[in-house]
Amino acid sequence: MYSEINLDKIDTASALPAEEPARQYYFMAKCREWVRDFEQKNGHLPRACVVNMGCQMNARDSEKLRGILRKIGYAETDSEEADFVIYNTCTVRENANLKVYGRLGVLHGYKKKNPHMKIALCGCMMQEPSVVEKLKKSYRFVDLIFGTHNIFRFAELLFTAFLSDRIVIDIWKETDQIVEDLPVERKYPFKSGVNIMFGCNNFCSYCIVPYVRGRERSREAKDILQEIERLVKDGVSEIMLLGQNVNSYGKNLSDPMTFAQLLQEVEKIEGLERIRFMTSHPKDLSEELIQVMAGSRKICRHLHLPLQSGSTGILKAMNRRYTKEQYVELAGKIKKAIPDIALTTDIIVGFPGETEEDFQETLDVVRTVRYDSAFTFIYSRRTGTPAAAMEDQVPEDVVKNRFDRLLKEVQDISREMAERFTGTQQTVLVEEPNRQMDGYVTGRLSNNHVVHLPGDASLIGKFVNIRLEECRGFYYMGRPV
Ligand code: 5AD
Ligand code: SF4
Repeated sequence: MYSEINLDKIDTASALPAEEPARQYYFMAKCREWVRDFEQKNGHLPRACVVNMGCQMNARDSEKLRGILRKIGYAETDSEEADFVIYNTCTVRENANLKVYGRLGVLHGYKKKNPHMKIALCGCMMQEPSVVEKLKKSYRFVDLIFGTHNIFRFAELLFTAFLSDRIVIDIWKETDQIVEDLPVERKYPFKSGVNIMFGCNNFCSYCIVPYVRGRERSREAKDILQEIERLVKDGVSEIMLLGQNVNSYGKNLSDPMTFAQLLQEVEKIEGLERIRFMTSHPKDLSEELIQVMAGSRKICRHLHLPLQSGSTGILKAMNRRYTKEQYVELAGKIKKAIPDIALTTDIIVGFPGETEEDFQETLDVVRTVRYDSAFTFIYSRRTGTPAAAMEDQVPEDVVKNRFDRLLKEVQDISREMAERFTGTQQTVLVEEPNRQMDGYVTGRLSNNHVVHLPGDASLIGKFVNIRLEECRGFYYMGRPV
């Protein structure tokens, strides 16, 4: 297994391997020599700070960046006053981009004080040509820029940046390559994300993801299962299967397989206790998946099912390919088959052309389905997407007003929904010490609800049977039983 390789055994004077991941391990060995040299000259290891700005997919990518940095000998720090800082960016909403530009200004100040400092940018925002143009013109202090498709080449790009005093830029438009077996540094020892597919083919008309993450590519089931088996051996008991649209997993494999079939294989892995997944597109959620979930002991009682809008007209303009009625029927079917399931969702307000009637349809779905929680977003106009060119963009004050009304409705319902579990016995996976209350720890239930319970750090990573004593809005207070 490559990720356990001793870099010192790689002969960096020999020819560069053509195959992956051997090529990247060769560059990791080269980087390691550079790191040793740095340590000798400066009396300390170089410190690296990896900043994750995006979704769970980005978080998993950040763990891969950390894994490589650790392998080559960097010390990790949370402070951005470091020798190497990398922002793993998001670009789903315009705000995310603005934040990056703001923070880069601060980094420039640090770099002026520390001549060794290298600044790198990667992730979805870098896949936008206009962003790279702007960085090249006005942010010349950045050392390295790469995108989502060639993140597996991080070691090679880092080494190139070490040797260069000019900005190194490598953005790929597409790739069909999936490189397995690179180092990963997990944030939590007991839980982990696992990519099952990359990219998205749906082209929802507001969404930039298909343009920055490319076409759908599924990993081979055997690679996924092998990765999970290794994780379990390494102490992981909960995994989150990751993909932009997990319900279309396996369609493009040479030996096609459904997501529900993959789940059944994952379920068989001994020692694995909990299986989560993210994200499901309602149009592809199969009857087979509902049945597998209902019959499973390990699949968590939580389903994130993005609604986006409750108006069939708006859904059509969004290219979501389901109607209000189909969505509501699907949600009902799921709740009937799995009564203790927690349903969560994403909703966008202010999509072009959205009228008050359309908005009322969204509120109607929210009241009918009764979500355990919902992420609500103000529509953000993303250049390059079909919706950006649509007429009837909704005025800001109207959107804000709808957003506030939606948020109130969603929160009121979440609170009422949470109450239904008060008094029940549940199992919690303890995740971390409680930051506010001494002598307490915090964990999650199968349905993803947060629970605080008395305990100390020795419980972290353990499953504890508890009674939910009190619901305080969005979390519970529990007591071990
Ligand atoms: N504006 C607002 N929200 C968006 N999302 C995706 N694109 C946009 C956009 N242009 C939201 C969707 C998606 C979530 C991850 O982000 O609700 O489900
Ligand atoms: Fe974006 Fe739609 Fe793909 Fe989700 S399914 S990533 S919202 S295009």
